[in-house]
Amino acid sequence: MNEHDSEKMAGMLETMGYESTSNEKEADLIIYNTCLVRKNAELKVYGNLGHLKTLKKKKPDLIIAVCGCMTQKKEIRDLIKEKYSHVDIVFGTHNIHKLPELIANHKQNPGMVIDVWEEAGDIVEDVPVRRKFGFKAFVNVMHGCNNFCTYCIVPYTRGRERSRHPDNILKEIEQLAKQGCKEVTLLGQNVNSYGKTLENKITFAKLLRMVNEIDGIERIRFTTSHPKDLSDELIYTIRDCEKVCEHIHLPFQAGSNNILKKMNRKYTKEQYLELAEKIKKEIPGVAITTDIIVGFPGETEEDFKDTLDVVKKVRFDSAFTFIYSIRKGTPAAKMENQIPDDIKHKRFQKLLDTLYPISLEINKKLKDKEIKVLVEEVSKADDTKLTGRTRTNKVVHFKGDKSLVGNIVTVKITNPKTWTLEGVLVEEN
Ligand code: 5AD
Ligand code: SF4
Repeated sequence: MNEHDSEKMAGMLETMGYESTSNEKEADLIIYNTCLVRKNAELKVYGNLGHLKTLKKKKPDLIIAVCGCMTQKKEIRDLIKEKYSHVDIVFGTHNIHKLPELIANHKQNPGMVIDVWEEAGDIVEDVPVRRKFGFKAFVNVMHGCNNFCTYCIVPYTRGRERSRHPDNILKEIEQLAKQGCKEVTLLGQNVNSYGKTLENKITFAKLLRMVNEIDGIERIRFTTSHPKDLSDELIYTIRDCEKVCEHIHLPFQAGSNNILKKMNRKYTKEQYLELAEKIKKEIPGVAITTDIIVGFPGETEEDFKDTLDVVKKVRFDSAFTFIYSIRKGTPAAKMENQIPDDIKHKRFQKLLDTLYPISLEINKKLKDKEIKVLVEEVSKADDTKLTGRTRTNKVVHFKGDKSLVGNIVTVKITNPKTWTLEGVLVEEN
C-alpha cells in the first residue's frame, strides 16, 4: 500500500519536472513515506531524519518531507516539530494528492508546512503514477480498514473503509493494459469486503470477473484477504477465472482461539482450518501464504502451540512472520501480560524452524516441472540470470537474456529451495 502511494508521489513529482536519483546527495527533495505497523520501522525513520540534518546543513535548499502513517499521529508530528526542525513538509495518508501544492507553498513561505487530514476525504482519482515496472502494476480497489484488530495501528492511520467505484478501477486497468501491462495486483487492507461502502453494492468476486475480461491483462493478483470475509463466491471465482492467479494471502495471525478473540479477528482456529481446506480442495495447485504474529499479550505456551499446529496443518507455501510490537493507541498496548522479549524471540525462532522445512518440501514437489514465469528483472546478484514469478508468486531464477523481461516464459525447475526456485528456460513464449 505504501509502495503504491510512493509511486503516486513519484508520478506527481515527475509531472512537476523532478527526476529520480538513487544518490541522496544529489537530491533536491527527499520524502520519507513512513510505516507505523511495527516499532522498528518507526525507529528507522527517526534515525534517517537525524542523519539528514547534516545533509540539509550542507545544502540548505534541500526539501525534506515526511508523510505516511507516522505523521497521522499527533504526538509524532509534535516530535518532528520539536526534534527535527530541519524537516520542511509534513503531510499524511489522506492528502498525498496535495504534494505539488505543499511543495509550492513551502517554496513561497519557508518554514515547516504541516498539512495532515484527520479524516479521509473523497477518493481522489486520476493521480499520475510512476510505476516501477511497465508490465505489472498495483491498483487500489479500496482504502482504509474497519476491522480494528487490537494490535494494529492501520485503522487509526488509514481511516475507515472506502471502496473505489468499479468503473474507475476498470478504466485504470484498461489503460494499463493498453500500455502493455500484463499483471495487476488489486490492493486493499481487506479486499474481501470490497464494494460494501458503494451505493450500488458489488462483491470483490464480481470485480475480479470484470477485470478478468480485460484484454491484454494476463495475471490478476490481490492482497490482502481477511479470513472472516472470504466467501465461497470468491473461491469459485479464483478457480474459474483463468487470469486470476492460484495464490491466496490469508493472514491467520495466531492459532489459539483465546488469542484470536483478544485480537478481535472474528474467526476461530477451526474456521480458519476449514477455510484453508476448502481453498485447497477447490483451487488445484493453489499456494496459500499468511501473516503470523508471535508474542501477543497473554500468549501462553499452549496458545503458541496452536499457532504451530495451524502451520503444520495448513502447510503454507511461505509466511510473513512478526514479533508482536506494542503500538500506542491500540487496545492491545494496554493489555496485561505483555510477553518478555526473550520468550518472544524463542517462539519466533521455533515458528521459523517449523515453517521453513514445510516451504522446502512444498517447493521440492516442483522439481522437473515446467512452469510459466513472468520475467521481472535481471538478477541483482548475476546479470546473466533473470528473476521472475510463477502464478503462485514464487520467485524463480534462471539464465536468460534481458530482452525477455516483461514476457511470460516457460521455465523447467531444476533446483527448488526454501524461498526461491532455480530453473532453466525451455520456451520463450
Ligand atoms: N505487531 C506485530 N505485527 C503486526 N502486524 C500488524 N500490527 C502488528 C503489531 N503491532 C502484522 C500483521 C499484519 C501485517 C501487515 O503486520 O500480521 O497482517
Ligand atoms: Fe490491521 Fe486487522 Fe485491518 Fe489488517 S484487517 S489492516 S491487521 S486492523
